[in-house]
Amino acid sequence: MDSIVIQGGAELNGEIPIAGAKNACLTLMPATLLSDEPLTLTNAPRLSDIKTMTELLQSLGAEVTRMQGGQVLAMSSHDLNNHTADYDIVRKMRASILVLGPMLARDGHAVVSLPGGCAIGARPVDLHLKALEAMGAELDLRDGYVHAKAPLGGLRGGTFEFPFVSVGATENALMAATLAKGTTVLKNAAREPEIVDLAQCLRKMGAQIEGEGTSTLTIQGVDRLHGATHPVVTDRIELGTYMLAPAFTGGTIECLGGRLDLVAAFAEKLDEAGINVEETARGLKVSRRADRVRAVNVVTEPFPGFPTDLQAQMMALLCTADGTSVLEETIFENRFMHAPELIRMGAKIDVHGGHATVTGVDRLKGAPVMATDLRASVSLILAALAAEGETVVSRVYHLDRGYEHVEEKLSACGARIERVKGG
Ligand code: UD1
Repeated sequence: MDSIVIQGGAELNGEIPIAGAKNACLTLMPATLLSDEPLTLTNAPRLSDIKTMTELLQSLGAEVTRMQGGQVLAMSSHDLNNHTADYDIVRKMRASILVLGPMLARDGHAVVSLPGGCAIGARPVDLHLKALEAMGAELDLRDGYVHAKAPLGGLRGGTFEFPFVSVGATENALMAATLAKGTTVLKNAAREPEIVDLAQCLRKMGAQIEGEGTSTLTIQGVDRLHGATHPVVTDRIELGTYMLAPAFTGGTIECLGGRLDLVAAFAEKLDEAGINVEETARGLKVSRRADRVRAVNVVTEPFPGFPTDLQAQMMALLCTADGTSVLEETIFENRFMHAPELIRMGAKIDVHGGHATVTGVDRLKGAPVMATDLRASVSLILAALAAEGETVVSRVYHLDRGYEHVEEKLSACGARIERVKGG
């Protein structure tokens, strides 16, 4: 297993190109299952999760061709010959459940293993299933698999109100509804930019959708969808992660392709903590106003609130802030696994239920630490960039699921970081 070795203390200056969004790409890819014509995605990120989704689609009979080093994905689901998403692939990545809605909507049946994924809480898929049931789907859970069937004549429009906001369940339901007979209304839908991106792509494919970016989605089903080409939206989580880098180390980083509307709540928090975010012609330029950032309180919320996927990185920053910060995680119940690792580096963190109280110390110290999930692993890298001495982050396969070329992007700005290949 590879590890990443960082010598802390170097100031960072320069520019970092931000890739297309992993989470958008992982929902745009299954959209290919809705049509027998080609769907081409540009600006795709080069990540292991995208490879896993590629394998999954291929296992169903879809063709997926990677072009331009993986930045372009040409997909065709002309000859779907298998409607079972196998446990061996699905267990690697929770987003695999997103093939369920499209397959069911197009062909009337699908069998999908219940997913695994990051170890950040229970993460059930009941809302995905309930939303599909509201469109007439018959579901049977057997042997770890969801066996789904559409009624005779296919899924039919229905109204479903999500009891709480779920990004993945909204995506699954939205895709399924595009081919359902009649009108579907999804209430308390997720408003994330990835949903907006999906709706825009589906519209290019001929879907009739209104309300993306608001909490009510109205979808008028059509008989068939056609091919399209669509650029994946900028990754707001990669963007937020690199916006934090100069807040740890000093210096100025310009995040190329960054858009303030994607990270508005996050940027407001940065301002409160004493970090400048400036819009430029090419993206967002970030620097801290003083040597030490100020303590701030953070509550994670569905979009447009502060994203749970930036909580670990923000906690790492607040470990050396002036004062005491409280972070509250409201989306996932077990998402503070980075805390014990940061404590190994000298942080003062007290986790109590869904809250973490962080008392700022002057400086963290390098240590051997272990990545426990995707965002936790990058938080340790950020912490290490500013820590005294050497940090070795092991189990970085989590990182490779969500960040392309981390070492290259950071070392181009002056970081002393390298990957050590392991067995
Ligand atoms: C997506 C993102 C993930 C991000 C999360 C929240 C992808 C591939 N992943 O995950 O990076 O952290 O949104 O912004 O896009 N829940 C249920 N039942 C369900 C579905 C969800 O109880 O059927 C719960 C979850 O356990 C969690 C909450 O709802 O507590 C939100 O989850 P959801 O928005 O669905 O997250 P994902 O789509 O899995």
